[in-house]
Amino acid sequence: MTQEPLLLVENLRKYFPVGQSLGDLLLRRPPGLIKAVDDVSFTLLHGEILAIVGESGCGKTTIARTLIGLEEETGGKILFNGRQIGARERRLQAGLVPLESGAIGTREQQSLPRLSFKQFRQQAQMIFQDPYESLNPRATIFEIVAEPLVVHGLARGRAEKIQRVRNALEDAGLRPAEEYFLRYPHELSGGQRQRVVIAGAMVLEPKLLIADEPVSMLDVSIRAEILNLLHDLRNKRGVSIVFITHDLGTVAYFADRLAVMYLGRIVEIGRTAEVLKNPQHPYTRALLSVVPVPNPRLRRERVILQGEAPNPIHLPTGCRFHPRCPLAMDACRMTDPAYVQLSATHSTACLRVESTAL
Ligand SMILES: Nc1ncnc2c1ncn2[C@@H]1O[C@H](COP(=O)(O)OP(=O)(O)O)[C@@H](O)[C@H]1O
Ligand SMILES: [Mg+2]
Repeated sequence: MTQEPLLLVENLRKYFPVGQSLGDLLLRRPPGLIKAVDDVSFTLLHGEILAIVGESGCGKTTIARTLIGLEEETGGKILFNGRQIGARERRLQAGLVPLESGAIGTREQQSLPRLSFKQFRQQAQMIFQDPYESLNPRATIFEIVAEPLVVHGLARGRAEKIQRVRNALEDAGLRPAEEYFLRYPHELSGGQRQRVVIAGAMVLEPKLLIADEPVSMLDVSIRAEILNLLHDLRNKRGVSIVFITHDLGTVAYFADRLAVMYLGRIVEIGRTAEVLKNPQHPYTRALLSVVPVPNPRLRRERVILQGEAPNPIHLPTGCRFHPRCPLAMDACRMTDPAYVQLSATHSTACLRVESTAL
């Protein structure tokens, strides 16, 4: 069965200009670039959960913000249900590019069917890390969850609005929903607030949820509940989820596939079981070696990485992981590794893997 992916991301790049100092300006030094996301490709199938894992600063939030349209990509292609919702479409929406202008985008991009940005945002929702910041403190829970319906003009009449808000709250595990309608965010616990955020995202019945570290600000004791809730929503509503986390320990039972990121690049991607049982990239192995394992016989030797994660302004030459890699060889300083296919679904970008697989 061939299935068109819900989301197809190809060679996505997002660079931020670095602020120039007066000295830079006087010497006419060109502005530097922070390559926060640097050539990222992946697909997400309908109803699939893909986890994106990596240390702080590797570009996870930038991917999320770019996918959802809060940032404009520097380059690459994002297709949602086979339709483009890229930078040009957004500029068209904002009225910045005359429709007849053919100057932007390749011919192939121009011929792709387009989805209006508003239609896209109805079908793709983001859940942020901090449930304390993402809720308006002066709005009631009812108003918060109803707002997306109002913005998108989707509820016909008060009865329908109430029904949809009630369903969304109950789906998010806040039952009976009416008890929450007139309450304010400060009256709820962190876990309940994150459930309200999830209800507000699900009220539009989206096809895609992008969850950026949705449990990292929550008490350890309630993290599993929120993960189970997201898992249930996938099973019951068929929503696809991009689940972003710095904690490899949370993904094992949760995600169908796993992408490991290092400095703006995916270094290994595959089915979760494949990557966890047979990790090939030295960075994936290092991350896994520090995840606590309940059974001591399964414990791996800890790999302690040398040095700090380098800065995406000054990317290392060759393989960007080589300065910290325990297996680095001379070639790694020169050659940026291409992906090596390990199975139909598992690949990694490491010269060592290429040379041992041959
Ligand atoms: N708006 C921005 N302007 C400049 N640099 C940014 C901006 N947003 C993120 N960055 C930089 O991009 C890199 C990736 O950041 P981010 O995507 O937040 O990583 P993560 O979510 O994995 O911690 C970091 O070096 C960060 O400082
Ligand atoms: Mg982040």
